[in-house]
Amino acid sequence: MKTKLILILLTLSLFANQSRAGEGMWLPLLLSQLNEKEMRDMGMRITAEDIYSINHSSLKDAIVLFGGGCTGELVSDQGLLLTNHHCGYGNIQKHSSLEHDYLTKGFWAQRMEEELPNPGLSVTFLVRMEDVTTQAMKGVNDKMSQKVRDSIIRANSKVLVKEAIKGTQYTAQIKPFYNGNQFYLFVSEIFTDVRLVGAPPSNIGKFGGDTDNWMWPRHTGDFSMFRIYAGKDNKPAEYSKDNVPYHPAKHLTISLKGIQEGDFTFVYGFPGTTQEYVPSYAVDMTALERNPIAIGLRQQRLDIIDKAMENDRLTRIQYSAKAAGISNSWKKMIGESRGIKLLDGIEKKQSFEQDFQKWAQSNPETNAKYGQVLPAFEKIYGAYIPVNNAYTYLSEGLLGIEMVRFAYGFNNLVKKCNDKSIPDLEISKLIDGLKQSAAAFYKNYNRQVDTQLFEALMTTYSQSCETGLQVPVVKETAAKYKGNIKSWTSDVYKKSVFSDSTKFYALLAGFERRDVRKIEKDPSYILASGIYTFSQNTFYPLVSAFTAANDSLQRLYIAAQMEMQAGKRFYPDANSTLRIAYGNVKSYKPADGVEYKWYTTLDGIMQKENPEIYDYVVEPKLKELYNRHDYGRYADADRSMHVGFIASNHTTAGNSGSPVLNADGQLIGINFDRCWEGTMSDLMYDPDQCRNISLDIRYCLFIIDKMAGAKRLVDEMTIVQ
Ligand code: ARG
Ligand code: ASP
Repeated sequence: MKTKLILILLTLSLFANQSRAGEGMWLPLLLSQLNEKEMRDMGMRITAEDIYSINHSSLKDAIVLFGGGCTGELVSDQGLLLTNHHCGYGNIQKHSSLEHDYLTKGFWAQRMEEELPNPGLSVTFLVRMEDVTTQAMKGVNDKMSQKVRDSIIRANSKVLVKEAIKGTQYTAQIKPFYNGNQFYLFVSEIFTDVRLVGAPPSNIGKFGGDTDNWMWPRHTGDFSMFRIYAGKDNKPAEYSKDNVPYHPAKHLTISLKGIQEGDFTFVYGFPGTTQEYVPSYAVDMTALERNPIAIGLRQQRLDIIDKAMENDRLTRIQYSAKAAGISNSWKKMIGESRGIKLLDGIEKKQSFEQDFQKWAQSNPETNAKYGQVLPAFEKIYGAYIPVNNAYTYLSEGLLGIEMVRFAYGFNNLVKKCNDKSIPDLEISKLIDGLKQSAAAFYKNYNRQVDTQLFEALMTTYSQSCETGLQVPVVKETAAKYKGNIKSWTSDVYKKSVFSDSTKFYALLAGFERRDVRKIEKDPSYILASGIYTFSQNTFYPLVSAFTAANDSLQRLYIAAQMEMQAGKRFYPDANSTLRIAYGNVKSYKPADGVEYKWYTTLDGIMQKENPEIYDYVVEPKLKELYNRHDYGRYADADRSMHVGFIASNHTTAGNSGSPVLNADGQLIGINFDRCWEGTMSDLMYDPDQCRNISLDIRYCLFIIDKMAGAKRLVDEMTIVQ
């Protein structure tokens, strides 16, 4: 009895102080209950109600989900919005050509009429959120399978969503939290007329490029500006010349007062995904199995693409956005695996699992409920890891070949052409759509680059992916060529219509139903459709069986953790819903003998300057301003121009573009990255090493005002000094 008591006390004391300031992505709705006191103790001067309220306008009304995966914030009553340069990148790229190279030179609309529309881009405001756990789980019990459970919840959610948006122009969604132990309803308003207003040249917006990415000290001016347009009634409307700037219920006040180490800050945005409560097996799978495979394949792609971009301006325009995406995850995965290792992340999880098991077995009731969770995890991960590895080879390798990925999109056409019940009209509509996607594809396609990608990736795939889980058509074709991937490659690019835009457009131009045979016989299509069939028939059943088993175990596991650590505040994993992270402006020690300051300045840009290296070219105008020390009201009290700063806010992908706010809820920075030593924070947060990186808002305004001369935009903003 005594030992049991000691054990319990020990466990309690172990976990009592586990929620440290800095860690956590909290629900705005629950701030007043869970966090407000701590936030105020840390220095915050506003209230939870100022941050999120459904009764009056609050900071939440100035925050948007930008596109599908970034955050943006409103900074004027005319719908003006700030986000990262790398979030606007794809759209800036789409408007760019050799004649109008906005990517390299920057873009600034001089008047509203010059702001550029971006079909397909939307921004989403959260109208309100609500805990609907009870309603969503009506009819669910612990005995049913995950599948039945999911289908009941889906049906309940459908009703709730319909109810929530009745008579409005809103959309709604129900999302699971704590792995399906709780459910929240999100009512949103989506605007689709979002125009590009301004972007700095790449040597500011992407200064340091992929070399400095994920690292501190950082000097990237990572911002771009858009404007939301609405109908005359201020409601969402499809793009039209007659639309007018949107008037938000709230826009952020910008502070030029500057910041100090230790200052309270918070980040308000849409973090994408984290997995903080998974077992050691999952961390092992990601950090030691999946990441190394994906890193290797991405490295091969980057070696080829980077070299081609180095040698040709057009290729640089065509591949810059693609390369940035490939490189970004490549580097993140390297940092993540490294961070987990240095943190002994797997061992830490294992030691927690031992305590957990002891706790679960310490009483018959918890033993019955949770005693088998960890052994079951071990079993399913053991069986799944080879499948996941093979799938990684497929998705990161085979689908890294651009032509194969493009041909993959023709499955639907082939299916419909072969289905007699489909009228010709539908086929010609499909062809019209494909013509459009082909135009977008070939604008950014270089056949030589892709040929090299094919040969390199196919070689690795054939040699390294477990044979039992290789796509049969790849195995058979490689065998036909007796393993000579080089000659296979040259045949494919000689014969495939997909590899040559002229041949391809000719095929589409006069397309008749029976031409589908040409597609079916095309070597790229044969490959793509072989990959598709194998994915459908072999991978998806394995993946979905694992997912169902894992979902149900993970749901129990986190419920058990909450039961075991009853005194602890649990934040839900990120799931692309609006969250608050808070912490302090803070330096850190990345390695023995090294300490990183919490801010960088324009001096650092001049130190990094190297006209020979694309990533480190300094814009001449910026240099002039630096030499003249012409910073105006944007200089710090120390008279230098602050560029970036770090803080202990817990952020992840999706938080890019998020506003970083001070104790008064004023905008002081734009979040855009994390420090190298803390990139494992999606799996495990370390308060000593995890820092979010932000652009100092004063540098952003300095660039807009002094460099770009776009004073009209600064004049729209609400600025306090
Ligand atoms: N690492 C940051 C994020 O995950 C920035 C990425 C964009 N920058 C780049 N050089 N690729 O989004
Ligand atoms: N750079 C990331 C983003 O685009 C932010 C991060 O992962 O810290 O959302």
